[in-house]
Amino acid sequence: MSLLLSTRAAQIGDSPTLQINAKARALKAAGQPVIHLGGGEPTYPAPKAAVEAIIQKAQSRNIKYTPSCGTPALKKAVLAYTQQHYQHAFAMSQVLISAGAKQALFNFLLAAVQPGDEVVFPAPYWVSYPEMVKLAGGTPIVVKPRQGLRVSAQEIIKAVTPHTKAILINSPCNPAGHILDEDFIRQIVRFTADRHIFLVMDDIYHQLVFDGSRTPNPCAYAEDLHHMVLINGVSKLYGLTGLRIGWAVSENEELIGAMGRMQAQSTSCNSDISEVAAVAALNGPQDCVKDLCAVLEDNRNTLLEELSKIPHIRVEKPQGTFYSFVDFSHYNADSNALAAYLLEKALVAVVPGKAFGAEGYLRISFCADKDSIIKGVRRIGRALTESAPGGK
Ligand SMILES: Cc1ncc(COP(=O)(O)O)c(C=O)c1O
Repeated sequence: MSLLLSTRAAQIGDSPTLQINAKARALKAAGQPVIHLGGGEPTYPAPKAAVEAIIQKAQSRNIKYTPSCGTPALKKAVLAYTQQHYQHAFAMSQVLISAGAKQALFNFLLAAVQPGDEVVFPAPYWVSYPEMVKLAGGTPIVVKPRQGLRVSAQEIIKAVTPHTKAILINSPCNPAGHILDEDFIRQIVRFTADRHIFLVMDDIYHQLVFDGSRTPNPCAYAEDLHHMVLINGVSKLYGLTGLRIGWAVSENEELIGAMGRMQAQSTSCNSDISEVAAVAALNGPQDCVKDLCAVLEDNRNTLLEELSKIPHIRVEKPQGTFYSFVDFSHYNADSNALAAYLLEKALVAVVPGKAFGAEGYLRISFCADKDSIIKGVRRIGRALTESAPGGK
């Protein structure tokens, strides 16, 4: 008799990026000069304040369980951050610290979504959204752009049904790099407030923006913010992806309480060392964020310049994040096949657009060093123009 796994396990697909990553790693291990433009983390070194806090904490030899919803020191630091960036004062009972923004988001889905509930979000989307919604028992409802990479607020609103539990927004967006404008955010905030639908703002990239732009403040558009959940973390902001610290903030204390119970019964609490380091990063000098944005903006400009030399692709200028999402459908509409071809032929790893709900596109990261970006894109250009796959 075979040992049957759950239907839940059968429903959840492998991370679509795993195959490319595993192949890239194997090629690198075999001595091939692979360039990785598929990454999702800045190579920027950790802020000194965070590193010093880790050393001090380790030397204290006092590394224990922490309060399951986060230490008071970290909650206070998150509240100060939120007050500064959203001009809104939340209370200690309205914040939950988690193992990354991902766990914060997952806690929300577990706490809010019932079987049959729908969670609406635009494509292209972060690869994890559909699988996470399904894991929580919900149905992902993807709103695809009619052309280009943007969906209007009205198109999102039209996708809402009596089963909609939440709308999930990520701005600036992984993978498209665009910022959702004030009009979009105002419409969605007001609509969700009026209709008592949760609005989840995945703001993990909200400070990584270029050309002097800013992300609109969602807290400015509704009196009552009970329906809104702000998700953020230290991963992208400080290049501290390895700490695994993120958070959720909401005026809805019933929701934050339920999310905390999900966490208490799964991971118990966050890493003691990581929480101390996150406090130091948040309370320490913030020049590193400005420096990171300047490096990323420069990398973006280099990437755009190199991409402009490849014919027949469509590129939209990223306004934030460290991703560009480029239409390569002229060369091959099958993005998995194209990404595999580029890895094999050009030794460049990029992520197929299909994983983000947009076939024909490739996501190219610009968080690598400038030299890798230049060499990588030139290799892609050569591989496509010398012998294009897919018969074109
Ligand atoms: C849109 C988006 N949300 C959330 C996350 C998860 O961030 P964290 O490392 O804090 O879990 C990522 C990471 O790639 C992301 O791109």
